[in-house]
Amino acid sequence: MPVETPHTAADWTAYYRLRFAVLRQPWQQPAGSERAPDDDQPTTTHALWRAPDGSVAGVARLSPGSTPGQGQVRYMAVAPAWQGHGVGRQLMAHIEGTARQQGLTELVLHSRESAVDFYQRLGYAVVEPSHTLFGVIPHFLMRKQL
Ligand SMILES: CC(C)(COP(=O)(O)OP(=O)(O)OC[C@H]1O[C@@H](n2cnc3c(N)ncnc32)[C@H](O)[C@@H]1OP(=O)(O)O)[C@@H](O)C(=O)NCCC(=O)NCCS
Repeated sequence: MPVETPHTAADWTAYYRLRFAVLRQPWQQPAGSERAPDDDQPTTTHALWRAPDGSVAGVARLSPGSTPGQGQVRYMAVAPAWQGHGVGRQLMAHIEGTARQQGLTELVLHSRESAVDFYQRLGYAVVEPSHTLFGVIPHFLMRKQL
């Protein structure tokens, strides 16, 4: 499975560039808005999916949730050219495996409305509507027991 932890400076540059391109740039958000204060915490785990040509075509991260045993998935993004080819499924399998290794028993995430069906296919259930990002992207809190 071509899912890896970013290691090199080039990996990290590509990792954040993809986050920005997929999750921020289409809504005219400023450079830097793709980064979170807890990205550098030792308890945050990052994953990337590498395409056969070596480029980074998918990213995701896992961080502690708000209660013991809970993790949160954030910043899940697949390059447009690779969407619908199983990259997101592989990234989530990796994240869930990592979460189990960390002893977590539940994952939560805030899904964009357009991605709710994707997460439902992977066993996540909608808990309730959550925030609206940039004033236009409705999100839903979703949860899965591991
Ligand atoms: C949503 C996203 C992460 C899914 O990743 P992906 O690599 O395209 O998804 P996969 O190819 O692994 O799809 C897995 C399954 O979910 C389905 N699926 C994927 N995206 C879907 C969507 N938006 N709606 C409904 N079903 C979807 C696929 O058909 C596939 O089903 P199958 O296994 O039964 O054939 C990706 O499309 C993406 O980055 N979108 C834009 C950014 C985004 O919305 N990120 C999530 C923020 S919360």
